[in-house]
Amino acid sequence: MRVIAARLLEWYDRHARVLPWRSPPGGAPPDPYRVWLSEVMLQQTTVAAVKPYYERFLARWPSVEALAAADNAELMAAWAGLGYYSRARNLLACARTLVAEHGGRFPGSAAELRRLPGIGDYTAGAIAAIAFGEPAAVVDGNVERVVSRLFALDNKPAVRARAAALTPAERPGDHAQAMMDLGATICTPKRPACAICPVRSDCRAFALGVQEAYPIRPAK
Ligand code: ADE
Repeated sequence: MRVIAARLLEWYDRHARVLPWRSPPGGAPPDPYRVWLSEVMLQQTTVAAVKPYYERFLARWPSVEALAAADNAELMAAWAGLGYYSRARNLLACARTLVAEHGGRFPGSAAELRRLPGIGDYTAGAIAAIAFGEPAAVVDGNVERVVSRLFALDNKPAVRARAAALTPAERPGDHAQAMMDLGATICTPKRPACAICPVRSDCRAFALGVQEAYPIRPAK
């Protein structure tokens, strides 16, 4: 497991996608407000579509305090095109809770973050890992695919457990984003680019020649 995480980080240091919500690999962690905003936007929307929205949002509402004071109609207008408006309503509710109950600051652990409006396991884990360096497992669709292939796992609970075990104590946020980048650029759903994968030699699905069979979806 250690070897896999080390290979992934080494790969990330060379190949991380440059995205507006990231700091350079190994650099100071990004502020939790940026991580939160980007992760909420990225939940149901692609990286390419999110980028301009994220930039505009951050320019208009650069902090939790600014967002908490936002005009609801203006916020919804700024969200138009991203869809799933409950995300925008939750952003506002969460910003207001942070200001009213937490002095405008994000609490520093996944367990506390999880109690805020609109923050589920995924977002809590992502903020805790990326902004606060907590070794929380961060499992989105990309990570699920990568981990299910690496260990030839056929069910979500097993994938979650392995993803947690794989998460290193050092640089857990970079680790999470390395897995996301691997899933988005190499370990793709169809025709994964195993020839250039940094963890090919650790991958059970690759060894068995069955990488495209994962993740296995339960029969409906
Ligand atoms: N998808 C969800 N979160 C992401 C992140 N932090 N970087 C790239 N893609 C993502």
